[in-house]
Amino acid sequence: MLGRAIDKGIIELSVTDIRDYTADKHNRVDDTPYGGGAGMVMQVQPIIDACRSSGYGGPVLYMSPRGEILTGAMAKELSEMPEITILCGHYEGVDQRVLDMLDAREVSIGDYVLTGGELPAMVLVDTVARFIEGVLSGEESVMNESIYSGLLEYPQYSKPREYEGEQVPEILLSGNHGEIDLWRWEQSLALTRERRPDLFEEYLKKPMKLTKRERAILNKYR
Ligand code: ADE
Repeated sequence: MLGRAIDKGIIELSVTDIRDYTADKHNRVDDTPYGGGAGMVMQVQPIIDACRSSGYGGPVLYMSPRGEILTGAMAKELSEMPEITILCGHYEGVDQRVLDMLDAREVSIGDYVLTGGELPAMVLVDTVARFIEGVLSGEESVMNESIYSGLLEYPQYSKPREYEGEQVPEILLSGNHGEIDLWRWEQSLALTRERRPDLFEEYLKKPMKLTKRERAILNKYR
């Protein structure tokens, strides 16, 4: 999806290798931490020079397990910026002065630690891109705005109708799109309430214009 969006000129990505900017004669970009301790710290000079030379723009996001957790709301906010810069750390982290000088916002993709920031950066780029117009097909982007948004996805089925005795729910074969939409919505409500009560509570707070039928369904789960 991202490859296609790049080909269509909807988004543009460029990658800068910090090592290309080191002033160290041995090409080093890291050194031991002041104050002692394990591991290596990425140094300030190569990162700042890499940023300045690459003409970076927009807010700087630093991928780090100590950052605020990436959410859909954050991704949407970032998608509205014309440009963002993502700094991927490695080793034990980067010199704090980098983060101070670039006024970096620290972002984590979850409560687990990876060996570097590159995979988290790709996760962030992917989820931000989904909010940019033209990246998803029309149908998918409509889903983002519908009464389904904020809920877990309903179960999907495809051909065949029956597989080793396992049937596709009858309603999906009915051709009645109004009823199918209600069924799917109800499935999403039930799944979300069971698996993610936190999301369900948030969903209930959203202002929604519901029909009588929809309200009756929602009240069953409230
Ligand atoms: N770098 C290492 N672990 C990370 C995480 N969980 N999120 C973002 N960046 C990271």
